[in-house]
Amino acid sequence: MKISNLQVNGLSQPIGYHFDHLTFSWDLIGQPEEQLVKQQVLVSEDLEFNKIIKTAETTSSQNILSFNCAFLKPRTRYYWKVITNLKKGIVEKVSHFESGKLKEPWEANWISYKDKAIDSVIFTKSFTVTKEIKNARLYCCGFGLYEASLNDVKITNEVLLPGYHSYDLLNQYQTFDVTEQLREENKLSFLTGNGWYKGRFVFEGGYENIYGDRQKIIAELIIDYKDGTSSTIVTDNSWTVETSFVKENSIYDGEVLDYQSDTECLTLFEIQGEKELLAERSNPPILKQKVMRPEKAFFDQDEKIILDFGQIITGWVEGVVASNQPIRLRFSELMQEGRFYRDNLRTAKQELIVFLSEKERYIRPHFTFYGFRYVEVTGLSMEQAVELKAYAIYSEMEELFQFESSNKKLNQLVQNIQWSQRDNFLDIPTDCPQRDERMGWTGDVNVFANTSCYNMNTRSFYNNYLRNLALEQEKLSGSVPFFVPYPKIVPHENINPFLISAGAAVWGDVATVLPFQLFRHYKDKGLLKNNIGIMKSWVNYLYERDIKNGSKRLWDFDRQLGDWLALDTEDPNNPVGATDPNLIASIFYYRSTSYLAKCLSILKEEKAGHYQQLANEIRQAILNEYYENNRLQLNPLTQTALSLLLRTELYPSQEAKNNLQKSLVGLLEANDNFLNTGFVGTPEITHALVENERSDLAYTLLLNEECPSWLYEVNQGATTIWERWNSISPNGKINGADMNSLNHYAYGAVQDFIIEKVLGLSHLEESSRIFSMKLKPYFDRRLDWVKGGFKTANGQISISWRWQSESMIELKVQIPHNTQLIYSVSDQETRILKSGVTTLEVQKKDDSRSNL
Ligand code: BGC
Repeated sequence: MKISNLQVNGLSQPIGYHFDHLTFSWDLIGQPEEQLVKQQVLVSEDLEFNKIIKTAETTSSQNILSFNCAFLKPRTRYYWKVITNLKKGIVEKVSHFESGKLKEPWEANWISYKDKAIDSVIFTKSFTVTKEIKNARLYCCGFGLYEASLNDVKITNEVLLPGYHSYDLLNQYQTFDVTEQLREENKLSFLTGNGWYKGRFVFEGGYENIYGDRQKIIAELIIDYKDGTSSTIVTDNSWTVETSFVKENSIYDGEVLDYQSDTECLTLFEIQGEKELLAERSNPPILKQKVMRPEKAFFDQDEKIILDFGQIITGWVEGVVASNQPIRLRFSELMQEGRFYRDNLRTAKQELIVFLSEKERYIRPHFTFYGFRYVEVTGLSMEQAVELKAYAIYSEMEELFQFESSNKKLNQLVQNIQWSQRDNFLDIPTDCPQRDERMGWTGDVNVFANTSCYNMNTRSFYNNYLRNLALEQEKLSGSVPFFVPYPKIVPHENINPFLISAGAAVWGDVATVLPFQLFRHYKDKGLLKNNIGIMKSWVNYLYERDIKNGSKRLWDFDRQLGDWLALDTEDPNNPVGATDPNLIASIFYYRSTSYLAKCLSILKEEKAGHYQQLANEIRQAILNEYYENNRLQLNPLTQTALSLLLRTELYPSQEAKNNLQKSLVGLLEANDNFLNTGFVGTPEITHALVENERSDLAYTLLLNEECPSWLYEVNQGATTIWERWNSISPNGKINGADMNSLNHYAYGAVQDFIIEKVLGLSHLEESSRIFSMKLKPYFDRRLDWVKGGFKTANGQISISWRWQSESMIELKVQIPHNTQLIYSVSDQETRILKSGVTTLEVQKKDDSRSNL
């Protein structure tokens, strides 16, 4: 038995992170015969564990324990140990984490400059260290974005610090261990840029200086010496500030680097105060995660060099270049008729311009990122251009899920979804990473939450998103904005309504769906406790609005986005689809309230019953309004409406359910068995069909290859998920440039169908003593075989199935120790599959339509 992957709140050995709960988790890998008795976590300030500060134990094999964190002291290293007692013997493993400054006041002040605002400045301080160092920590933050160096070497491999959060409500600072980097003579410097803080950002042309108009930094370098003394270097008016070689930089537009320009000294300005918002960071590091060489390089119709990296990624390119003329790199997702195409970026310039002063130099961007597959190169020869490398940049998250099947196109689809997740999980979950938008749209997160938690360990990533959401929500008295962070733009004529409104169905419901899904996946009670307030505030907000609007227990009084981008209306310019927006809203009012009740009962909070009662009332009101009063008949029945009603079991009788099923099948048949759902219906429809005995139709939708379908995109050469079903027309032409990203994960929500229904593996809503998942695959003759795996805290679960004959399937399962699968033999019967390898012969029922 081996313990590994020790994490605190989903992070390995975090230093200076924000801990509002402390959840320790670990992997325990071993053999089935090694039986677990109990597991214990000890916390101490010393590595020998002489004085134990906290301890707790569990008999569960979830390998997770949450603690209250009130005991934390500032700037302290804590050691923690897992002790696993087995029937025969004990194994243990130690790790550590370190607190930040917590409530300790900052000695340092923010420093900025008085001169006219420019795009990038460098703050510097030189100092001498004469004694032997024991430990040194740098506590720092810089806005817009910063890169800190000690003695001209970057102090971290993290990029785009301090990330993007609600800067007006919270200033997340970082902590770095710089013990090894200090010398006798030292130079500490901060190169700063605009970023989301002061650069052009937010759709529709963008706004500048959203959070501030000048770069500023704050830093405390605390050095502990071996003789027991310590000293602190702080940002104050003894620092210098000067112009930098980064002449222009912007999230949307890219960067201009001028190595020919001289630096000019600026006038430093020490800011008094403004330190109340400083708090420990919670975002996982943003890193350069994958490197790629161009797959192809060619000249386009305009005789320009084009590099094709073969995959749409988010990131940038780097490399050694030599040129006596300006170098320009432009980034795009698509080629059109042999030409470099960029219109769907809208106003985002996405470029890198470099003026070299010397013959040769290694170049890279600093304060931007690009969504791209193709790079157009000017100012370099083809030989030089092909040496450039692309880096995919996204937040650190362990990948958990693998999938393969006999259908190569389906495999490509899963790859595309996983890429859209990587590409859009850069500090916040963005809608898209390329055009002048790149915002944390809440509705997109809602529909993709389940899939994304299967794909990667998103605990700390979403914890950070929800921390920002909670702050924004507090300002909105319980309501939830369309995007988080929520930049506050001063209202003006023709302002986009999204910037001055909040609280729509599905988008706002991320406040309940995301915490609910996080618990379902990671069983982290500390995290759930932390987020239960967000869930409650949202439901209370809806309830109060319900009361003000006549206490109908229906949500039929707000402007809604409906089934965003559905294809079921005649009007191609109507983005909200044909489904009754009030029906969607009322169903989500019901879903949110039910999820809250469930989570409260998991936490054993007494209010659970109260919210369950409210959920029952909403359910009853929906049944009355839509069935008794026949509202359903008055509405155009849509694939989305029917799928949602079926999935949330909102029907008064078996007969009504049968009617919904029949109507859904009828609608599909009338549409040649193609879907026409938008953001809301798409994650539901395949599940709804399977759960209602039409897995054959669900598979048809999954495997359709013409537009609109997932594999249509694959056939068109997609390497990520598109924003629209018809983003690219069958003739290969892009279908409009205005709102047409080729890298939008929302429709990738179908992956949870592939995981839960095709492979058949799902998480349970509650935690259990033995780590358990549900196994219920739906077989279909159109796939010869399927195999997949999922990394758990006890090791890998692997599932595969393969048709042996026209009516027999071999189902093979490999289950790690202390884990079990609850296998549905039929609707009435379940069987527990235990650790080890199990092979089952499954007889396919003759009457099943899935035997196509
Ligand atoms: C975004 C979306 C978002 C939608 C909401 C779009 O511009 O890209 O994904 O959810 O607006 O209206």
